[in-house]
Amino acid sequence: MPATVIVGAQWGDEGKGKIVDLLAQGSDLVCRYQGGPNAGHTIVVGGETYKIRQIPSGIVAGKRSAIGAGCVVDPAVLIGELDELAQRGHRTEGLLFVSGNAHLVMPWHVALDGARERRLGRLQIGTTRRGIGPAYADKATRIGIRVQDLLDPKILRQKLELAVAEKNVWLERVYELEPFDVEEIVTAYLGHAERLRPYVADTSLLVDRALRSGERVLFEGAQGTLLDLDHGTYPFVTSSSPIAAGAAVSFGVGPRRIDEVVGVAKAYVTRVGEGPFPSEIEGPDQARVQELGHEFGTVTGRERRCGWLDLVALRFAVRVNGITSLALTKLDVLSDFAALPVCVRYRLEDGTETEDLPAHQSDFHHCRPVFETLAGWGCEIGDSLPRAAQAYVSFVEGALDVPVTLVGTGAARERVLALS
Ligand code: IMP
Repeated sequence: MPATVIVGAQWGDEGKGKIVDLLAQGSDLVCRYQGGPNAGHTIVVGGETYKIRQIPSGIVAGKRSAIGAGCVVDPAVLIGELDELAQRGHRTEGLLFVSGNAHLVMPWHVALDGARERRLGRLQIGTTRRGIGPAYADKATRIGIRVQDLLDPKILRQKLELAVAEKNVWLERVYELEPFDVEEIVTAYLGHAERLRPYVADTSLLVDRALRSGERVLFEGAQGTLLDLDHGTYPFVTSSSPIAAGAAVSFGVGPRRIDEVVGVAKAYVTRVGEGPFPSEIEGPDQARVQELGHEFGTVTGRERRCGWLDLVALRFAVRVNGITSLALTKLDVLSDFAALPVCVRYRLEDGTETEDLPAHQSDFHHCRPVFETLAGWGCEIGDSLPRAAQAYVSFVEGALDVPVTLVGTGAARERVLALS
């Protein structure tokens, strides 16, 4: 289909990079629509591992790639990725387009993110400390610096001077941190501006033209549905809109231009950072899933909390994204287990049970999972699904009324089964 959105259907880290990489092969333009260097896609191609944080992973497949207005961009990180891709033989100029309306993550955003988390102590959100929340906050208060500001040295200097003056007050007086030196910042960012100038583009026009000429456009979200600022498990969320509708907002195209929404979910669930997690595994299987699935953050290296597959949360993801098909990743991680609990309902504090994610945060915070246990398959997954693995997949499809069209069976690019 001409316009497809790939969305994380859980709390991020669903293995979207690999699915994007796969679907990118048949796409003409790959578009990242939200987040910034808090994301981390791991792609394994021909034995080489790529860990990409900002550039759409389609670039590894040599596809035209765009970063939309709804993203935040850390210039230093972006330049680092451009350099690394160049070293590994990938062309980026003429292939990567960055929206002039995207906002910049500045060093004070990073400093403030860490300082706020430290101050929150036990109540911290567990952010990636990459400056994401403070950058989006400045965007919303309309004092942010945008990618297009890099194109005009005079405006850039003006904006940097203003920003440094204000942020230094916060850093010094509120958080007792070292202030930034305005001239050092101006010199560094004028340098970044020169590097990034060739990549700045009108990405709304780019996507519109691509769709009009019949090209296939793939929108990739970072993070996941339950980390959505509006619809996720607030305040334990990120500061942007990972849900599918975010793609239309970020790229400035009408919502009716989107044809398909592919939800990516692990065959179990993981979450990094704080916040409620109903199907979180209790007991030694927690460490076992973590180890078998190598569940450590791509960006922060933090241990990911592991849970059994949660169909209540997935049903919510199907609803808010309009998911038309699902990719179930890392099914192979479950091959070691004789019995597989799947969360089918939540039991609320008053004893009632629900198949739908509670709308009120207190209900969600206190609910308990109701599991049904499915049989494991007890062998490695080869070129086809063992019978019990097929039953596991069918159970998910039946519960959600959405087809599972792709199943991930290993880290390498080719370890994906297409189901008809
Ligand atoms: P922030 O996006 O750094 O502000 O972090 C807010 C929340 O989103 C925290 O719970 C993070 O752990 C989580 N988060 C942000 N990016 C990712 C990601 O790429 N994968 C999983 N969790 C993420």
